[in-house]
Amino acid sequence: MTAAFTFTYGPRLRSAAGVCAQLAEMLPPGPVLLVTDAGVRRFGLCDGALAALAGRSVTVFDAVEADPSAQTVLNAVDAGRAGGAASVVGLGGGSPMDVAKLVAYLLGSGDDLTAIYGVDQAKGPRLPLVLIPTTAGTGSEATPIAIVTVGATEKKGVVSPALYADWALLDANLTLGLPPAATAATGIDAMVHAIEAYTSHRLKNPVSDALAREALRLLADNLPKVLANGRDVAAREATLLGSHLAGVAFSNAPVAAVHALAYPLGGHFHVPHGLSNALMLRPVLRFNQPAAGALYGELATCLDPTATESTEAAFFSAIDALLTGSGLPLRLRDIDIPESAWRCWPARR
Ligand SMILES: NC(=O)c1ccc[n+]([C@@H]2O[C@H](COP(=O)([O-])OP(=O)(O)OC[C@H]3O[C@@H](n4cnc5c(N)ncnc54)[C@H](O)[C@@H]3O)[C@@H](O)[C@H]2O)c1
Ligand SMILES: [Fe+2]
Repeated sequence: MTAAFTFTYGPRLRSAAGVCAQLAEMLPPGPVLLVTDAGVRRFGLCDGALAALAGRSVTVFDAVEADPSAQTVLNAVDAGRAGGAASVVGLGGGSPMDVAKLVAYLLGSGDDLTAIYGVDQAKGPRLPLVLIPTTAGTGSEATPIAIVTVGATEKKGVVSPALYADWALLDANLTLGLPPAATAATGIDAMVHAIEAYTSHRLKNPVSDALAREALRLLADNLPKVLANGRDVAAREATLLGSHLAGVAFSNAPVAAVHALAYPLGGHFHVPHGLSNALMLRPVLRFNQPAAGALYGELATCLDPTATESTEAAFFSAIDALLTGSGLPLRLRDIDIPESAWRCWPARR
């Protein structure tokens, strides 16, 4: 018998090429704050959203950096307040979307950022919020989570149902120009979300399992295709959907040790989030194998439909093939992180 569980699906979803053209109908009247980053804006990825909002007062905040700082969130709140924002749009990878979530909440509630770190601390209202991913990775458009860098090195999370967006819009055209290294890193991040949701001891349930399995199937099948040809729209669409489904899964069955070890790597060494996950994946899978091996076996055919058996060996060989095929560095020494850095971590805390 299945244990009792609760499941939240998250924002309403619309997926279509050019879906940004429909943005205005998802927002209330009044000024809009569009949160993005300079690269996303320079590549013209905001153009569709801005065209859809023509005639309205729009403040564009494009100063979000990768692994955004708490100060960036506060700067975006100031920009939104100055523009009289009545709603917020986050357009970009996980970094702008996470900032947009927090800004919508802080503007709507009047709370202080320092008061809402942790789980279920943000209980107030937020402004209407639409999220539009341009990477197929974090699934942030689906999740009630925002991660910011506090001080020089520490990553802190805000996790609260208040951060679920009203709408998530998936437009694969926005992801076509993502370079191969970023495509690989963000794609592995999404796969890790699905694997960790499926193997999470805490809160794993039949719905998160189904979503995680389908997410992995879509990602494993299509990540090699988008790495071979970044302009393969169908494959980009499949990775974007896979990343979204993984986001819905891990919103309910949380990520675990791969992410727990990836966050300090990102905080201390500014390794992109997806790459830090790729670096931690194999060692954590091997460490957890005695407890999670049977679940790994169940995922083998999602990763490799040609696998004839659902075995741990088939799972690990598919993971190895995907990681090797990603072209990402897979050892800390490959990105010049010396062993001494690991050894002194406990002493620094
Ligand atoms: N909220 C969540 O549930 C959640 C989950 C996982 C990770 N995160 C957070 O998300 C952040 C990482 O997000 P990310 O991996 O999407 O990267 P990102 O948002 O930091 O973007 C990385 C780079 O990619 C560029 N970029 C984005 N889309 C592009 C496109 N279509 N074409 C060309 N360049 C593009 C950006 O300009 C930027 O330079 C981290 O801060 C991480 O902690 C959040
Ligand atoms: Fe992640």
